[in-house]
Amino acid sequence: MSNELDVFVERYGTDCAKWDEPYWETGQKIDYYGVADMDFVTAKPIMDAMYKVLERKNFGYTILNKSFTEDVSYWMEHYHNFKIEKEDILFAPRIGMAIAIMINELTEINDEILIFSPGYSPLHDFVVKNNRIAIENELIKKDNKYYIDFEKLDSQITTKTKIMLLVSPHNPVGRVWTKEELLKIGEIAKKHNLIIISDEVHSELTFKNYRHYPIASLNDDLKSRTITCNSVTKAFNVPGLMGSNIIISNENLRNKVKDAFYKMGLHNPNPFIIPVINACYRECEDWLLNTKNYLEENYNFLKNYLEENIKELKLVDSEGTYLAWIDIRDLNMTREEVEKFFSEKVKMGIYTGDGFGLGGSGFIRLNLATQRERLKESLEVLKEKIDELR
Ligand SMILES: Cc1ncc(COP(=O)(O)O)c(C=O)c1O
Repeated sequence: MSNELDVFVERYGTDCAKWDEPYWETGQKIDYYGVADMDFVTAKPIMDAMYKVLERKNFGYTILNKSFTEDVSYWMEHYHNFKIEKEDILFAPRIGMAIAIMINELTEINDEILIFSPGYSPLHDFVVKNNRIAIENELIKKDNKYYIDFEKLDSQITTKTKIMLLVSPHNPVGRVWTKEELLKIGEIAKKHNLIIISDEVHSELTFKNYRHYPIASLNDDLKSRTITCNSVTKAFNVPGLMGSNIIISNENLRNKVKDAFYKMGLHNPNPFIIPVINACYRECEDWLLNTKNYLEENYNFLKNYLEENIKELKLVDSEGTYLAWIDIRDLNMTREEVEKFFSEKVKMGIYTGDGFGLGGSGFIRLNLATQRERLKESLEVLKEKIDELR
């Protein structure tokens, strides 16, 4: 049966970060599996919402329509069973910007911030480039899945540690943290009085048997110490439009962050994003379900393909996100050799794990949010080139 996600979208020549940027750098037109966005056709309700804005024929300043907080609070309760007040929600263009600003506002120079590795590297950069110290808690790999080392986590915290930066679900290892794991994180945060910044941008993209729990929804203490960062941008694939929901129930904390956003010049949203958020949360749930199924099928396709054809590449068990994490240590290649092999021989643009911090070396990250046929063609070339190495 045909699926709208099978339709190939030409992204070259659109100033696309995933396809054009590496092409401009290397001059190679190859298939890119790096930057975390999807190659799919945008959902129709989103397109309709954008056409409506175009029809205004005027793109002056906009103000934050109250539909934003209504739509976000509706979705959080409807989809995640997370009850919040409309006043708890702040708008920020990007989660990355919000986190960088919050690090500056809520900590001092040389304070420590806990992050989990291997992890989404900009978070590490926001910490160290703002002259704070990143304390990396390296996730433990056991039975082909990753877990938090709670004992170590507890022992790593000092009086200088102020924030725990959680990514939930975790990019890149694809863990959807269980309620029990999140509660343990909460106990440690309470014991050491830490603020939790929970980056939940991948929270809708869970596989069938897994459920995401917003950590702030689990008890009152967690609600008051957590800043939840969420957005439509990953789940509905509109990251270029820039709009995120920063949810802070603790009034003091929220006022500080609100003030910090203002101080740093964050202001009104662009004219497209609020109508798009409305379309995503109110009209795109079917699109999301189809997309989640497609992504999980891509993951299963990759898993079967590797198991049958390329035993040297071992796919880590995933519970969500579209970012496959693959152990390639059996190839016995250096980072440079891996990069060269994939880009020049296989013609696949991937991310090597080294950029993801502790525990990343010897792994690659592959973005599976693409047409299955394209993935299949790339894997066939990969098999051929690995066969040549044997
Ligand atoms: C964990 C995580 N946080 C944040 C982002 C980016 O969000 P934004 O574009 O809103 O900064 C990504 C994108 O890949 C991500 O994986």
